[in-house]
Amino acid sequence: MTEALRERCEAIKATYPEAQSALIPILHALQDSYGYVTPQAVEEAAELMAMTTAEVEGVVSFYTLFHRKATGRYHIQVCDNLACQLRGTDELLAHLKEKWQLEPGGPSPDGIFSLERVECLAACGYAPVAQVNLRYYYHLTPEKADQVLSGLADGEEARGERI
Ligand code: FES
Repeated sequence: MTEALRERCEAIKATYPEAQSALIPILHALQDSYGYVTPQAVEEAAELMAMTTAEVEGVVSFYTLFHRKATGRYHIQVCDNLACQLRGTDELLAHLKEKWQLEPGGPSPDGIFSLERVECLAACGYAPVAQVNLRYYYHLTPEKADQVLSGLADGEEARGERI
């Protein structure tokens, strides 16, 4: 861990009355720095928080916002739960595979995208839903997905949508 990262984590920890409450923001800081939550990051978080690595692993594995392997610059999380399934997730995933060669797993060869199926993103009324980095995209169709991905591939920021 670099000195700058350690200082950042210590500063985060100092803002919480109970040090262990800082675990999630510290994991975000480590993920920002390493690209994903590496085994080293788990050990570093455990040491910083005076927790066991098993306790840290339990938190990391619970939240889909923490990634356990490298992702693309834009990490696309497609909801695979009931409401989204009923409104076209399978069609959307098939399209992403056929047109964009995206399948769940590591980053695309160009490093721009990665894809993950996730459980309910808590926006069921706007199904089907996907999250790109921290931004939501609603009522996705293959055509709409093409527009979003084309924009991102051209360097647009993931802005998501406001409802
Ligand atoms: S089922 Fe997709 S957001 Fe809830």
